[in-house]
Order: sequence, then C-alpha cells, then structure tokens
Amino acid sequence: MTTLKSFLLLLCISFSLQAYAQEKVTTREVLSLDKGWSFHLGDIPYPVIKGHNATYRNAKAGYVSGAASPNYDDSSWRIVDLPHDWAIEGKVDPEANLSQGYYNRGFGWYRRKFKLSPEDKGKHLEIQFDGIATHATIWVNGTVLHRNWCGYTSMYIDITPYATYGDDVNTIAVRVDADAQEGWWYEGAGIYRHTWLVKRSPLHIITDGVFANPIKKTESQWEIPVEVSLYNSGKLPANSEVEVSLFAPDGQSITTQTQKLSVGALGEEIAKLSMTVENPQLWSPDSPALYKVKTVVKQNGTTMDKAETNCGFRTIRFDNKTGFWLNGENIKIKGVCNHQDHAGVGVAVPDALWEFRLRKLKEMGVNAYRVAHNPVAKEFMAACDSMGIMLLDENRLFNTSPEYVRQLEWQIRRDRNCPSVILWSVFNEEPMQGTENGVEMVRRMYDVVKKMDPTRPITAAMNGGFFSEYNVSQAVDVGGFNYQIESYDRFHEENPDLPLTSTEDGSAFMIRGEYVTDRSKNLMDSYDTQCADWGATHRRAWKAVAERPWMAGCFYWTGFDYHGEPTPHRWPTVSSFFGIMDLCGFPKMAYHLHQAQWVKDKPVLELVPHWNWPADSIGKPIKVMALSNADKVKLLLNGKEISEQTVDPYEMNTWSVPYKPGKLEAIGYKNGKIVSRTKVETTKEPVQVRLTPYRNSLAGDGRDAMPVTVEVVDSKGRHVPTADNMIEFTVTGPAEIIGLGNGNPNCHEPEKGNKRSLFYGLAQVIIQSKEGSGPITLTASTPGLKPATITINADQVAPVPSIPAENPPMLLNKWVASPLSTEKPDATRQIADNDMNSWQPISGGDLIKLENANFVILRATFNPYQAHRQEGGSILFKQLTGKAEIWLNGQLIGSKTTDKEEDFTVEFPAIKDRCDLRVLLNGTANESVGLKGNVTVRTKRSASVSD
Ligand code: GAL
Repeated sequence: MTTLKSFLLLLCISFSLQAYAQEKVTTREVLSLDKGWSFHLGDIPYPVIKGHNATYRNAKAGYVSGAASPNYDDSSWRIVDLPHDWAIEGKVDPEANLSQGYYNRGFGWYRRKFKLSPEDKGKHLEIQFDGIATHATIWVNGTVLHRNWCGYTSMYIDITPYATYGDDVNTIAVRVDADAQEGWWYEGAGIYRHTWLVKRSPLHIITDGVFANPIKKTESQWEIPVEVSLYNSGKLPANSEVEVSLFAPDGQSITTQTQKLSVGALGEEIAKLSMTVENPQLWSPDSPALYKVKTVVKQNGTTMDKAETNCGFRTIRFDNKTGFWLNGENIKIKGVCNHQDHAGVGVAVPDALWEFRLRKLKEMGVNAYRVAHNPVAKEFMAACDSMGIMLLDENRLFNTSPEYVRQLEWQIRRDRNCPSVILWSVFNEEPMQGTENGVEMVRRMYDVVKKMDPTRPITAAMNGGFFSEYNVSQAVDVGGFNYQIESYDRFHEENPDLPLTSTEDGSAFMIRGEYVTDRSKNLMDSYDTQCADWGATHRRAWKAVAERPWMAGCFYWTGFDYHGEPTPHRWPTVSSFFGIMDLCGFPKMAYHLHQAQWVKDKPVLELVPHWNWPADSIGKPIKVMALSNADKVKLLLNGKEISEQTVDPYEMNTWSVPYKPGKLEAIGYKNGKIVSRTKVETTKEPVQVRLTPYRNSLAGDGRDAMPVTVEVVDSKGRHVPTADNMIEFTVTGPAEIIGLGNGNPNCHEPEKGNKRSLFYGLAQVIIQSKEGSGPITLTASTPGLKPATITINADQVAPVPSIPAENPPMLLNKWVASPLSTEKPDATRQIADNDMNSWQPISGGDLIKLENANFVILRATFNPYQAHRQEGGSILFKQLTGKAEIWLNGQLIGSKTTDKEEDFTVEFPAIKDRCDLRVLLNGTANESVGLKGNVTVRTKRSASVSD
C-alpha cells in the first residue's frame, strides 16, 4: 500500500515537473504599442447581419465582422502615433458644444496589427490602454475583449487565450465613441494616453499589484506593510517565493523580506510582508525623497517576475483646529485645480509637458494639485512624486454600481503608493450632496477606498447642502468646500470636529495681457477684478483661507486655462480663462500675485501692465500694480519717484500713474534694504522674431517634447508685449511640430499646422522628437522682421522598447472542410444557410487525411479590399499539399496539378462581392492533403512584396 502510495506520489511529482517544465519563464517586457495605428475618423456601422449562417457565425468568438474584424480593409486609413486626440485636429465650430471647447468629437476607429514570436507562446500577455476618450469597444483577433465606460481609467486586457504567433498577425480594433460626455470641460477624443503590451511569466505580479505605503510607528521607526498580488495563468499550481527589498534614494539596499505562498492555476493570491526602517529620509514638496521597493517572484528558485514601485515616507494629518500637517509641520496647502489638456495637443499631452507644467506651478509656490475631476495619466502621478507636489486625487463619476466601483478601485490601486497623494475625493459638486441618498452613496464609496487604502483621508468636494440635515460631510474625513466662502465660519462653528479644506476656490477671470474688461467683447482685465458669481477674486479667495487656521488650504480654480467652459461667455470664446496661466502656460498677472503670496525664500517683484500704450494715452491715468513679497515697494517713472507703499500681502499695491512713455520701475525693500527691482519699458517697433526653447536638447526617442516660446523684440532686444504678428514655422531634423497656441481664448486659429499669431506678444510652438539624433532647427518668420532660428540637439537615446506595427496581406485562417468523398464533388455546391454542422472547422497547418476517400473541399470567405475591388489580386497558398482546384465565387481560377507540397499562387480579377473561396483537394486514398502554410489574399502591391 505504502509502496503504491509513494509510486503514485512520484508519478504526480514527475507529471508536475514535466508540466512545469513547459511553463514559460520570461523576464517582464513592457513594450509600447504607440506607433503605427491605422485611424479612421467617423463611425463605421456594424454590418447588418442577416441569414442564419451569418448570424450563427457572428455569435462566435473570433468571428466579429466589419471594421473590428482582423481582415477588414484599413489600407486607406491614416497612420497615427499615440497619444492621439482627433478633436484638437479639427476646427472650432460654433455649432459644437461650448463646454467641450466648440470642438467636434464624434466617433473614430483605430486598428493595429502586430506579430508575436513563437517564443512568446506560453507567456502571459496583456495589452494596456492608459486612457481612451470616451467610451470604447476593444476587439483582439475578432473577439470583443473590453468595453470601456470611462474616459479617464486604464484598461488592462489579458489577450493570452486569443493571441497568435509567428506569421499570423494579431489585430487590435478599437471603436471610440467620443460623443459620450463625462465632464463639462474639453475631454478630447481618441486613444489619448499610452498603450502597452506586457509579457510576463504565467506566474506574475498583476498590473498595479504591489501596495507598499510606509506608516510611521514610533519617532524613529517606520513600517512598510507590502502586499503583492500574484496571478498564475499557468496550468498548474505554483509554489512561489516573493522577495521584497527596499532601496534608499541613493540606491543603497536597506532590507529584504521573503514569503512563500502557493498560487493555484488561474488563481490569485496576495503575499503580505512587512519591512521596518529606521529614520528614513522624509518625502515633502521641498525634498521629495523617493524610495524603491523591488519585488521579485520566484518559482523553484527561478525568477518569474519583477516589479519596481516607488514610495515615500511622510505623515499627513488634517486637524479640525490647525489645518494640514505634513511630517509634523503645520503647512498651508497652496493648491491649484487643473484639467488635463494643453494648447496645441488637447488631451494628448506628451509626458514631458507634464514636467513643464508642474515646474511652472512649483516656481509659483504651488505645493498641491487637485486632479479635477478625474484620474490622470500615470506619468503625471510619477512626476508629482518626484517633483514634490501633493495631490488631491479625484474620482470621476459619482455612482456606486459595480462598474463604477471597479473604476474607483482601479484608481485607488494604481495611485495608493504615490507619496504625493494626500487626500482622495469621491466626487465633485454632486446635486445629491445634501441628501440621505448622497450620504449613502458616499458611505459606500468611502468604504471601497478605505478598504484599499486605510492611510489617507477622504473628502468630497461640496458646493452646497452643507447645512442640510443629511449631507455628505457626515460621511467623509475632511470636509471639502467648493467656493461658499461666506459659509466657512458657520459650517466650522456647527461642525467643530470636522477638519476642513477648500477643495476649489477662485474662478476669477483674467486674460493674459488684457487690461480692460469689456464683457461685450468677451474681454477680462488682468487686475484681478473679475470673477464668476459663485467665485471670488484671487485675493479674496486666498485671504479667506489664509486667515483661518482650521482651513487646511486652497485649491485654486485653475492653474492653467483649459479648452472649453468659456464661462461666462459663449462663442467666439472657445476656452476658459480662469487660469493663473493661459493655455500655453504663459503667466498672467495672477501668477505673480500668487508667487508674491506663496514664495517666501526668494524675492518676488513684478509690475503690471506693460508700458506700451498708444500716443493718445499720454497723460491719462494708468492703473499700475506691483506684486511683491517685500515689505515696501517704491515706484518710479523715468527715474522720478512716484511713491513708496507698504506691501499689503493680500491686496498688493496699486497706483494710478499718468502715462508717459519710458521706464516704469519698482524697487522692493525688506528691513530697509533693497531686495528686488523690476521694470516695464516702452519698447520700439519689433524688428526681429525670438525663439526660446524650454530646454537645449530633446531625447531622440520620438516621444520627448518641449514648448518653445515665440515673441518679437525691438532693436534693443526687448520683448514687445503688444505684438500680434502671424508667425510661420519650419522645422528640419529629427523633430516635428505637434501643436501651436497663443493663450487667447477668443482665437480660432487651428492648433495644428505651422502658423500662429502672437497674442499680446507671445505664442508657443510645441516640438516633438522623432526617433534619431542630430540637430533640430526651428525657424520662425514673419513678413518685415528678421526671422529667428534655433538649433536644439536630439540626443541619441535608446528608444522606448516597442512592438512594431505590421501591415500584412489579408490572412485567411478560418476554414471549414466538407465531408470526404470518393467521387469528385461539385466544388461550387451550395451549403444550406441553416447548415452549421456538415462542414467542420479546421485549424491552420493541419492536413486532412483522405480516409478511404479521394476528395475534400475547403472553404473560406472574405470581403475583398478596395484594391481587390478595383484591380483584383492574388491568393498565395503556402505549402499547399495535394492536387487542387481553386474556385472563387463559382469560377475556377486555378489548378494545381501535382501532389507535392508547394507554394501556389492564383490570380483573380476585380471582384465586387463577398468572396466564397473553395479549394477542391484531390489525392490518393489515405494520404493527407491540405493547407500546411498560411493562405493570404494579396493586392497587386502586396503581391510583389516577398514574405
Ligand atoms: C465649479 C466646478 C468646476 C468648474 C468651475 C467653474 O463649480 O467644480 O469644474 O466648472 O465651477 O467656475
């Protein structure tokens, strides 16, 4: 008995080892899919499915028809690289929705083909879409694999069971419905974030599967509870060992922990480990120290997968009396809210532009950012971690049904390691906020978030309902105020135990360079006098927060202008002008105002307006403002003192100065000493264009991008602030122009192309590298002025690993075979429309044994491509075995007269209808005949391309 048992056990083990030996071990590969998508603007309706056979097939995995089908003719589609926003490529249209920036959105289709090597067989394969605006359906190899119901969440799709290898290409088809709207701002259209193919071992860490968020235990000791979620798509249970190691910012290894656990076949398990750290460097906006958790998963000593996760050590606390505490220090949150678009590129923002935008905000003194009102790109999150910007991370839709809970869970799982995230927000301004139903919904969402991240507080951005019997402030950790300054005190008095923050304030109007408000012409001045009825000027909003110690801070609406929501105007205004900066990131007066209020460690002094007024302004009073963090500011005109004023840190300082061309100068004093100086001067006529790149080089990886500032200068090299010249650009070398802007919310010039007018002296051109290296030359010219040329170097860098796009001929890989016969059958014979069973599907590469028979017919159908319809084409049978007659739509188009296995090509004439292809095979009884290799339908062009 014992012997039998041991024998059986041994048998089991040896079987497992054998099967295990077949499981693929691979190093995780993350490959970009961004390049080479075929794109079609507009919808392509699904074909009408009629007839029983077609209906039956349509219901089967792998058999979708129309533009989602692998064999659809996309040869006339445009090739685009991602990120891609087709809306911004269009023209603003007074008939389109003002909230979406008067850009048409509509529908679009994308297709991409790629090959996998036979080596990839057995790997776990996942495609990832980081963001598609807005609803989307995704097919892979003819099977629908995902339906996307949110324009801001990622999609991770396991394609392993559907993948094909070798010459048989894989086809991804995506139908995008961008008429669906989830916001009241510009949302763009298309696959506007990155796409990836990730190859892993069957036993692997799931995407976003490491949770490592440090917790302070004692004055000196911190713990990182680490959770590693494993999945095993292999055929056998896997005994795994999970190893996590912590590395300091300087790369020094600190500690390693391991845990063993078994993961069943098609099972998911979570390894729970813990690491202890003494006196780590803390993460803060001033010093964003990032540690790395490296996770290794092994099976029987072999590494199956690895992942690196950033984390940071910091404590956060919202106090009901004293506001916000970071690392034991009471600091005010100086935040801004923003949407995710930029001039020229819409929502298809290159990663490098996030860095540019965040840098501008940091220089202004911002320490926090609210992602309004949706999850943002993961590259943006990483930039906030490494640059030191605290985040209010906000969910998009207020809904507790399973799909929306899934979206919320995805966001928490992806972002919960980011030290930058200090607060979650479950909604923005929901009409149900003052109702019992609203409280119930928040209670549920709160629970979802807390279960996944017990470490961070949760808020909801309320703009009303604060004093209702039921209101959602009762279900959150931190009360969030959108506007309602006049209610701050009463609410605090009635809810003294609830910590509070402004989640949104301001909504002041300002157009860069404009100094007169004329609402009839959609113009707003830059003196901080205008705001939305529900909002406040910059100065009032900040004062309301700054003077209340229990208010944790502000999130100013907004840091940057954004397309759409041109409140309070309509056409011809197409973008918002709430921004502290314009759509390009050019500072408005509000930038200097906030900088003066928020930056403490360096002198700030700016003057507005410019000093280029027309001749008839001479002698007339001009309102002058100084924005400064000095104690006193002295103003001088042409060397003569006008007056000195004590700086009002909230209101700043204003003078009325009779205009006289020349030099207006300000001097800032602190403790009686000069600490800052600035001036505005009357310039001469412009004589030359000037280009100022953000950086001196671009990485030659086809992704890096940078804004270049465009202006015109006078003979003394001074910026001319009132210029509006139309500038034309040319670029040579490995780069291209991907967008243009000038920050004018009333401008209708296209954001793509090579021309842009200056708006109050400035425009922006965004250039992106191509893959390659060498000098990039950008030239800007305008009639009558000297052009400007700059040279930027494209540095040789390793390109982001990616998977090439393929454009192969149509592959026929869905065949059915007739019953065998001894008599020669009629190759053209009809199959009853309701007969799904007498012909059997056969798989490619398999020959058919003619058991006691001599004949068999193989059949496949296809829709001819445009080129086939116009000029015909050819069909190439690789390794066709046996004698064969080839029949197309009832016509004999070729005969193979030998038995041997050989490549065989037949030509066919221009053909309009759906094609019914038959291969009548003939051989000696009990021999094998058939399609050993691929069958491809070629156009005249592809026929000349060798395989
Ligand atoms: C708020 C809203 C923002 C934006 C803003 C404009 O109520 O949360 O998304 O619409 O108003 O003032």
